[in-house]
Amino acid sequence: MFEMQEIEATEKPAFYAALLKQASALVAGEADRVANAANLTALLFHTLPDVIWVGFYFFDGNELVVGPFQGKPACVRIALGRGACGAAAQRREVVMIDDVNQLDDHIVCDADSRSEIVVPVQTAAGALLGVLDIDSARVGRFDRNDAEGLQPLASLIAQG
Ligand code: SME
Repeated sequence: MFEMQEIEATEKPAFYAALLKQASALVAGEADRVANAANLTALLFHTLPDVIWVGFYFFDGNELVVGPFQGKPACVRIALGRGACGAAAQRREVVMIDDVNQLDDHIVCDADSRSEIVVPVQTAAGALLGVLDIDSARVGRFDRNDAEGLQPLASLIAQG
């Protein structure tokens, strides 16, 4: 059975390196994308400090549809280009919002959310699979280290 390990590293790069090891072990040998996404969101939600929502939106060929997540109930469908998630999916790049109150096109799912990071996930062939979205109640929670650390974690659902 997989057991979550407490991560002692306080510097983000070392923290994410330890988290990636755990996450890789968690999905090893399993090819079911929904199962892996579900377990990854649980691991991230219970390991990352200061987060209130962690989840995947999957691209259905037309728009983003909510997948496995931890946190309060969320909006189900997001068009490409809309909000932080739609922007990250359309541009295929990480989107970070320091303060959602300063973004006109932010889609409010949880009124407590203040900052957000969205990481797109693609197959090795470059097809869009979806995005990993993480929200925090703290302004400016996410930085470049989070973007770098979360990309390989989010991409774990592309394997198998
Ligand atoms: N705030 C997101 C929508 C998804 S929720 O936060 C879960 C956005 O603007 O794309």
